[in-house]
Parts: sequence; structure tokens; C-alpha cells
Amino acid sequence: MNNLSFSKNTLLIVDDNPTNLGVIFNVLDEAGLEVLVAQDGESALQKIEYVTPDLILLDIMMPGIDGFETCSRLKSNPSTSGIPIIFMTALGNTDQKVKGLSLGAVDYITKPFQKEEVLARIQVHLELRNLTKDLASKNQLLQEKIEEKTTLEKTLQQLNQELEKRVEDRTSELKQALQTLQQAQLQLIQSEKMSTLGQLVAGVAHEINNPVGFIKGNLTHAETYIQDLLEIVHLYQQQFPSPGAAIATRAEEVDLEYLIQDLPELISSMKVGVERIRQISVSLRTFSRADSTSKVEANLHEGIDSALLILQHRLKANDKRPKIEVVKEYGNLSLVPCYPGQLNQVFINIIANAIDALEDSLLKQNLEEIKVNPRQIMIHTEVDRHRNVAIIHIKDNGLGMPEEVCTKIFDYLFTTKPAEKGTGLGLSISHQIVVEKHDGQLSCFSEQGVGTEFIIEIPLA
Ligand SMILES: Nc1ncnc2c1ncn2[C@@H]1O[C@H](COP(=O)(O)OP(=O)(O)OP(=O)(O)O)[C@@H](O)[C@H]1O
Ligand SMILES: [Mg+2]
Repeated sequence: MNNLSFSKNTLLIVDDNPTNLGVIFNVLDEAGLEVLVAQDGESALQKIEYVTPDLILLDIMMPGIDGFETCSRLKSNPSTSGIPIIFMTALGNTDQKVKGLSLGAVDYITKPFQKEEVLARIQVHLELRNLTKDLASKNQLLQEKIEEKTTLEKTLQQLNQELEKRVEDRTSELKQALQTLQQAQLQLIQSEKMSTLGQLVAGVAHEINNPVGFIKGNLTHAETYIQDLLEIVHLYQQQFPSPGAAIATRAEEVDLEYLIQDLPELISSMKVGVERIRQISVSLRTFSRADSTSKVEANLHEGIDSALLILQHRLKANDKRPKIEVVKEYGNLSLVPCYPGQLNQVFINIIANAIDALEDSLLKQNLEEIKVNPRQIMIHTEVDRHRNVAIIHIKDNGLGMPEEVCTKIFDYLFTTKPAEKGTGLGLSISHQIVVEKHDGQLSCFSEQGVGTEFIIEIPLA
């Protein structure tokens, strides 16, 4: 036996017979093994609590608990069940050998001992034992590595999840910031557009107002003066039926009779004209009214009318197309709490879009078709008492729009118009004004070839 290969192995011999013990002890000690001894089962079990031998040589017949019982206890304890046990039996006792093996022993040696045989068997089992231990420790190592890897993987997964979450959070933060920025920009553009237009309109209205005021004032006097003059002419005609050739010729030249009859009508139509200019000026001032910071009760029909007035020049016929009709069906809207200047802007945007759409369709169709189906903007207003909202429908019978356009019209900067004609802001601003500023709704229904309808809903409470 090669001493070195087992020099680290410990063996426990359990035998109550000192002679046997002595013989075996010497054989193994000589072979270089660390040898422990016990003289009965119980002291063997106690020893094993402190030192774990690599192999146990176990006698069967002993005082106290015998070898089989000792073997059973060792095998039923997980911390000792792996220690290989070799029984020492009397020669030819087959029953004992079989029982020992069935209790978990790995082998047996027979008394009287054959030194070579004993050493050979012990060597085999120690080698096996060492290999098993080696394997177990490698297994353990492997298990640890696997556990380490699993833990690492878990940590990695967690880190990954955390990272993904942070990226997600950051992305949504950025999205939010972008949205806020766009909204701020919209508001800026909106107020800029409004104030420029408002200032212009207010300026024009103001400039018109003064001359209209004194034309209107003087017209009243002119009417009285003309009435007086006509009465005097009349008196002259009565007093001097033959005024002389020069007067008679001149009177004939100017068609005095017609002039006398037409002049009052002329004055009253001038009064109607001046009144119309005055109304326009009032309308313009309504439109340009600076918005207060809080809502005010306003007459939306006035707002719609002023928007129509501002767009009047675009509704008229021109050398390329006939006029665009406006059909109004105003319901009983009374006063609506709102920011009137902003709602006017919504009306202007939607009506201007309708005019654009109608112009396109007018340019594409021939006069006959247009005669049959005149181009119109229908404006209908009503109150839904049930939902307590004011509803304004603005509908055109232009070309309508395809589904893919319809889904984008409220998007910031979305336009299908050439750069000089559209910025793509009109409807996104209008949407913001209706939905965010007024808690209302702005919806659009469009059918290609039929037309488009915008519905504005403003809560009354
Ligand atoms: N009544 C309508 N009929 C057909 N298409 C319409 C109508 N109203 C809006 N659109 C479509 O919606 C798009 C967006 O309208 P929006 O008013 O936001 O921008 P725009 O008119 O193109 O430019 P602008 O900023 O000058 O108003 C238009 O380009 C057009 O394609
Ligand atoms: Mg527009």
C-alpha cells in the first residue's frame, strides 16, 4: 500500500476484543493511516460526533449496542450516513454478511484477518471514499457557482428593469416637457396672433367710428335742411308758376321734379348705409374686445357675426367663382360664460377653413354643378338643456377630407395646404381654446365629396 495516498485518511476501528483491535491497529498504523479505536458501539458514535473518519471497521458482536444497530444509527444520521462501513465477520457467516450489506455496509472482512486482503479492501474503499468526497466538494463548488450565477443574473435582471423603468420615466418626462413646450408655444402664437389682429381691428374700428359719427350727425341736419329747401322750392313754384326761361330750362335740364322726389330717398338710403357702417364698426369692436382674465357672459351669435364680417371679403363672388352663401340658424343661445375673444378666434379659424375647402371645391367644379348645389356654410346653434351645453355647428359642403387627414387635423402644425396658405395651427389652437380653456368639446365629422362639420360644445355652467 502506498502510504502517501492515504496519509490524510482517518479510520475508526470498533471492536470489543483487544487482541483483534491490536492486530488491525498495527496493520493500519504501519500503512500510515490515522487510526482511532472504540471498544463498543456507543463510544464509537460519541467519537464520531467530534471526528469524522473516512472509513469505519465495525465488529458485529459487541456488548451494549451491537454492530448492526451501530451501523443503522450511523446510516440514519445524514451527517454520518456517507461514511463507508466495513463489517468484520467470522469466516463463513453468510447471514451476518448479507445483513451487514443490507444495512448499508460497503464490504466485510473476515476473521482471522489476512493482512493483504484487509489492506486491499480498505484501499479500494478509501479510494472510493476520497473520490466521492472529491466529487461532492466539486459538486458543492459547482452548486455555489450556479447559485452565484443565478444571483448575478437576478441582479442583472433587476438592474435592467430599473434601467428600463428609468428610461421610460425619463422618456415620459421628456414627452411631457415637449407637450408643455408646444402648448406654451401655441398659447404664445395664439395670443400674439390675437393681439395683432385685435389691435388692427380695434384701430380700424376706431378710425371708422369718428367720421361715421359726424356723417351720421350731419345727415340728420342735412335731411332737415334739404326738407326746408325743398319746401321753399315748392313755395317758389306756387308763388311764381312762370319763373322765366333760364330757370325753366335749368329745371328741365336737372329734371327738377325727379330730383325733388328722389332726394329724400337718397338721404334715407344714406342713413341706412351709415347705420350699416356703424354696425360693422360695433362688430369689429366686439371681435377685438380684449379678453379678461376671467370668463364673462357673452352673446356667441355676436361673435360668429363679427367673425363672418371679418371674413366677408372672402365670401363674396370674384372673377374666378360665385359667392359662398352663409345660412344661419341661430337658436336660443342667450349668454354663454366664456372668453369671447378666444371663441371668436375659434369661429374665424373654422369658418376660414370652410371657406378654403369651399374655394377648392368651387375651383374644381363647373358652374352647372355649383348652380344645382350652391356652396354654403351652414351655422346652426342650439342649447342642449339636458347636458347644459351650448352647441355650435359649422358645416360646409366642400370636398371633405379623407380619414387619414381627419385623424390629424387637431395635431400641432398639421396642414395639407401650401406653406403660403396654411400653418397648421388653426385647429390645434381652436382645440386648445375649446377643450382646455372652456372644458368643452370640439369634434369634426367629414365625408369626402360631401362636406365637413365642426361641432363646438361650450358648457353653460
Ligand atoms: N372644413 C374643412 N374641410 C376640409 N379640410 C379641412 C377643413 N378644416 C380643416 N381641414 C383640414 O385640416 C387641416 C388643418 O387645419 P388647420 O386650420 O389646423 O390648419 P391650416 O388651415 O392648414 O393652416 P392655418 O394654421 O393657417 O389655419 C387643413 O390643412 C385641412 O387639410
Ligand atoms: Mg386653418
